[in-house]
Formats: sequence, structure tokens, C-alpha cells
Amino acid sequence: MTDSIFYKRSSKRAYLDREIPKDTLNEILEKTRWSPSCSNNQPWRFVLVTERNQREQFMTALPQGNQWAAKAPLLVAVCAREADDFNREDDPVKYYQFDCGMAVMSMLLAATEEGLMGHPMAGYDADKLHAILQIPEDYHLVCILSLGYSGESAELSKQWREYDQSPRNRKSLSEIASFERFSFSD
Ligand SMILES: Cc1cc2nc3c(=O)[nH]c(=O)nc-3n(C[C@H](O)[C@H](O)[C@H](O)COP(=O)(O)O)c2cc1C
Repeated sequence: MTDSIFYKRSSKRAYLDREIPKDTLNEILEKTRWSPSCSNNQPWRFVLVTERNQREQFMTALPQGNQWAAKAPLLVAVCAREADDFNREDDPVKYYQFDCGMAVMSMLLAATEEGLMGHPMAGYDADKLHAILQIPEDYHLVCILSLGYSGESAELSKQWREYDQSPRNRKSLSEIASFERFSFSD
């Protein structure tokens, strides 16, 4: 693998106790802002949580399995509302959610480029986070992220250390890409 950000990006769990400089965060947000979206609707809204008290509140909405995120200096809630979707009656795809996925990937890659590590999460209590972050009812929480500088996995608890040190794997190219026609066995 090369040292391209596409290969360097990974969802680890150990963070350094180190703040993200304002300029660095701004650079990441600027790059994220230029993400593509259906009909250029830009439905994403990011709630960025940096203050210690508010981060502690945020963490109360996460299950035990995601408590490693408590050390991250930045927690992000990605929200969007269906009213900002690109609608076509014959199309079941929820583009406002798809677009958020595009923006989250931009954010993760931009963070990687800045030497940071981002970890997306679907494990959280959405009702609780809505209340803590004062997110209006018509906005859905699409996912959350932790962002910060990577720490030493040796400092993690045994279970998380094992996750972080285990080899990352992916399906083979032939399992996910076929030429000229759809020809997958499963
Ligand atoms: C939408 C989404 C939700 C995820 N939710 C969690 C989560 O709740 N907890 C967690 O530890 N990792 C979570 N992950 C991280 C994935 O487990 C991780 O991306 C996957 O194992 C591939 O590893 P990599 O990101 O290091 O390439 C989530 C990733 C995505 C994209």
C-alpha cells in the first residue's frame, strides 16, 4: 500500500490528549464544505463539540462499546433533514443521507491529510443526543464522529487494543466490481 490518504485513513480508538488547532479544523471543514451532493442541496449540518463539559454530556449518549471516544478532543454530530432531500417520486434513495455519507468521507480524508484520525460511529442514543445538542426534531442524526490525534493503542483496554491491532480486511475486488454486467455469485 502507498502512503495515500485513502490507505492511511482508518478507524482506530486511541487518541492523544491534544487539542486540534483552529486553523487545522477550519481546513478540514473547508474541504468538507466542497463535497458533492444531489442537486447541490448540501443537506449536511455538523455540530462540533469541543468544550469538555459538553463532550462529557455527549459521551453519556454513547454505549460502553464506544466509550474509547471520550479521549477525542472533538466529537461531531452529522444531522440532516428530509426537507432538504432531492426528491423524485420513483426513486427510493434518500439522497440527504447519501450526501451526508459523501461529506463524512471528505471529512475523514481531510482529517487524515492533516495528520488526524477520525472514527465514524452509528452506536449512540439519538434521542439523548438530540436533547443534549438541541437538535431540532426534523433533523435526523445520520452518524457521529470522533476526531483527534492518534494515540498509542497500548494504552487502550484489552478489548479495544485487540480491535485496533488486528489486521484490517476488505472484500476482494472481484467480490465488489464486475465489468459490463452484474455478475456476482452472492
Ligand atoms: C456508518 C458507520 C458506523 C460505524 N459505527 C461504529 C461504531 O458505532 N463503533 C465503532 O467502533 N466503529 C464504528 N464504525 C467503524 C467501522 O467499524 C469501520 O469503518 C470498519 O470496521 C472499517 O475499518 P476502517 O474504517 O479502519 O477501514 C462505523 C463506520 C461507519 C461508516
